[in-house]
Amino acid sequence: ASYDMGGHDTYMHKEIHEQADAVDRVLRGRIDDRFSTVHLGGLNLDAREARQIRRVKILGCGTSYHAGMIGAQMIEELARIPADAEPASEFRYRNAVVDPDTLYIAVSQSGETYDVLAAVQELKRKGARVLGVVNVVGSAIAREADGGIYVHAGPEVCVVSTKCFTNTTVAFALLALHLGRTRDLSVRDGKRIIEGLRKLPAQIAEMLEQEEEIKKLAQEYAEAHSMLFIGRVRGYPVAREASLKLKEVSYIHAEAYPASELKHGPLALIEPALPTVAIVPDDDLLEKNRAAMEEIKARSGKILAVAHQHQEKADQTIVVPKNEDELDPILMGIPLQLLAYHTALALGRDIDKPRNLAKSVTVE
Ligand code: G6P
Repeated sequence: ASYDMGGHDTYMHKEIHEQADAVDRVLRGRIDDRFSTVHLGGLNLDAREARQIRRVKILGCGTSYHAGMIGAQMIEELARIPADAEPASEFRYRNAVVDPDTLYIAVSQSGETYDVLAAVQELKRKGARVLGVVNVVGSAIAREADGGIYVHAGPEVCVVSTKCFTNTTVAFALLALHLGRTRDLSVRDGKRIIEGLRKLPAQIAEMLEQEEEIKKLAQEYAEAHSMLFIGRVRGYPVAREASLKLKEVSYIHAEAYPASELKHGPLALIEPALPTVAIVPDDDLLEKNRAAMEEIKARSGKILAVAHQHQEKADQTIVVPKNEDELDPILMGIPLQLLAYHTALALGRDIDKPRNLAKSVTVE
């Protein structure tokens, strides 16, 4: 199918710019101010069942796996249920223990990725409860799951995922809030998260206004042969996704690392020719992240910070609007989509169809 590009030169650019509207859609009709929670009609999970969940395991591939990593953190933080994400392919080949008190969640833009579908089928065969967090309505994974959340990002044509990633993280915030409010999350915290969610569309629009400055940075970074992305806790999955996006679309080698692990290896690589992108949210780990940047500077490494305020230790900072701590990862990924896009543009890459990649991988 081919959709109108609406004045954009690539679908990737169009889809990046559709994100404020897309997030508006995933929120629409779901917020319940009376009980400071959200309604997720397709979940098929009543409050008693929700309270019996002992663990959450999230499965996906590529960008959807990274959105799942963010989702797992949100579920742990807001609902206090142990949660983690794993690539669906790893899960299905390691003969994982399937536990009846675990809620399994399959994440997929297309709803057709073979490894994810096979994991869902194996889980169902063993009697597990599986939810889908899916974009394409009526797709194979959506049909196979016991229930789930549609992320309503709209059609995504570019092979690399942008707006669907953002919407999936918002869908996970809704799920985490819902699970939290069936358990111990207070009305006050529920309200706080709802207010944060409502701010997102305007903050995305504000973020996208910085495109010209990010384009200039991208033209500079397009000369790099390799880049390092670091972050910790909430910033780490953002670093993972940003590194994937840059690799996919610009073909520049990139590696993501937890900032805390720098001293256990990657510091050996630091030199002026290896720039680092540091994800530095203004949360309780800010000082730790500043210390990591200092270690890089001490070895003459160049740093681009993505932060909520100007970072002195960095050579350049992209300032992102601040939201509630738990929701910060949603916005921090957006400037890095623009960075990947403009780097690829500067290098003359085939942005909507990167070499060797497919939009959905329906084979093993
Ligand atoms: C392919 C695409 C990626 C995508 C991944 C998972 O590798 O190139 O952009 O993230 O599949 O796709 P899904 O449709 O399951 O989210």
